[in-house]
Amino acid sequence: MKRSLVFLAALMGLATVQAEPDGSRLYARHCAACHGLEGTGGVGVPLALPAFLAGAPDAYLEKTIRHGRPGRVMPAFTGLSDAEVEAIVAHIRGWHPQAPDAMAARVPGDVQRGKTLFAAHCAACHGADGKGGHGTGVTFSRPRDLPIIAPALNNAGFLAAAPDGMIKHTLVHGREGTPMTSFLEQGLSEADIDAVVAYVRSFEQHAEAPPELGHESPVITRISPYSLQETIESVQRAAIGYNFRLIREQYLQDGLVPEGEEDPRQVVIYSCNFKLLDDVLKVDPRVGLFLPCRVTVVEQEGEVRVMTINPRRLSYLFNNRELDEACEGMARMYEAMLEEATL
Ligand code: HEC
Ligand code: HEC
Repeated sequence: MKRSLVFLAALMGLATVQAEPDGSRLYARHCAACHGLEGTGGVGVPLALPAFLAGAPDAYLEKTIRHGRPGRVMPAFTGLSDAEVEAIVAHIRGWHPQAPDAMAARVPGDVQRGKTLFAAHCAACHGADGKGGHGTGVTFSRPRDLPIIAPALNNAGFLAAAPDGMIKHTLVHGREGTPMTSFLEQGLSEADIDAVVAYVRSFEQHAEAPPELGHESPVITRISPYSLQETIESVQRAAIGYNFRLIREQYLQDGLVPEGEEDPRQVVIYSCNFKLLDDVLKVDPRVGLFLPCRVTVVEQEGEVRVMTINPRRLSYLFNNRELDEACEGMARMYEAMLEEATL
């Protein structure tokens, strides 16, 4: 009896070790929210397009999953095992089983000439320095100029994943079903295309590192020299001065404790600057998670503190450089506002 139990346990252990990771489930869990369950695209670009998969080696897909796209929303999946990454790639490959032949790591070309050609033919969509179109994928950032936003090319994750041969393939064939069309058909010669590829590769020398914001405090705090009531009024005045409309004022414990038992020395002031809200929602709708602006005023041991969330620190969680810039502006405004309220 005991022996058969041990045997059974060993068998089960073996079964969990040997079970193949399920690529379709892993894809649904880690990728579908952004790229669509069927790979048709969303916050992320479409992955199921035959024109994309015909030119993307499996190693490119693997490396993209591992490196992500720093500052361009696509996260780096460092916690998945090799077998799990391979299973996801096999699932994606299932949409178009024909993988391209091995692609050249390097394509020699005239970088200076490539730079001129890039300015003339690519910058309008991919940005002057290859930092990508405004927004990402197919659903972010409304209004927008293109149905699919051009990815960042000066991105460390992209450059680490894409061999030159793949970039060349993309330029020669374009990506049918996206705004990216064939440059051979548009009249560039193969030497021109090689020059552009060499120029795109040269971005590697100054691919931007994302800002290090992990050390930022999640909360902006100021000590007020005034009484609780004076501070509340002062915060409201400062907010109005920064074009915030006051929405409401309530106890921090509202709804958390029986009515009438809330601590009156913990107050939250809700306000909204509609222009700011509109601007940042266009960049990344996920800021909705920490807007409208909430300023908390608390009196503790005779000291009045004024606090608000730090948008810089929250933006850091979203891996979106454009949002980082918008949140930097927002954080400065919050700091100035609290400064003024506690002057
Ligand atoms: C009309 C806008 C437009 C122009 C012009 C354009 N592209 Fe693109 N490009 C795109 C879009 C959109 C995509 C994404 C396509 C997709 O989702 O598969 C893309 C994809 C790419 C990719 C693949 C990137 C990746 O992450 O897989 C490369 C490389 C690229 N473009 C290079 C260039 C270069 C170099 C030029 C100039 C010779 C150029 N593109 C011109 C819109 C454009
Ligand atoms: C939070 C959203 C998000 C998640 C989750 C995500 N991606 Fe992405 N992915 C993106 C965005 C956005 C881009 C385009 C980056 C750009 O615009 O520069 C991208 C780009 C890619 C590309 C490059 C496509 C091309 O045309 O070259 C691949 C491949 C990819 N993702 C695969 C995956 C896989 C596989 C997963 C799951 C393991 C995943 N992504 C999870 C948002 C996401």
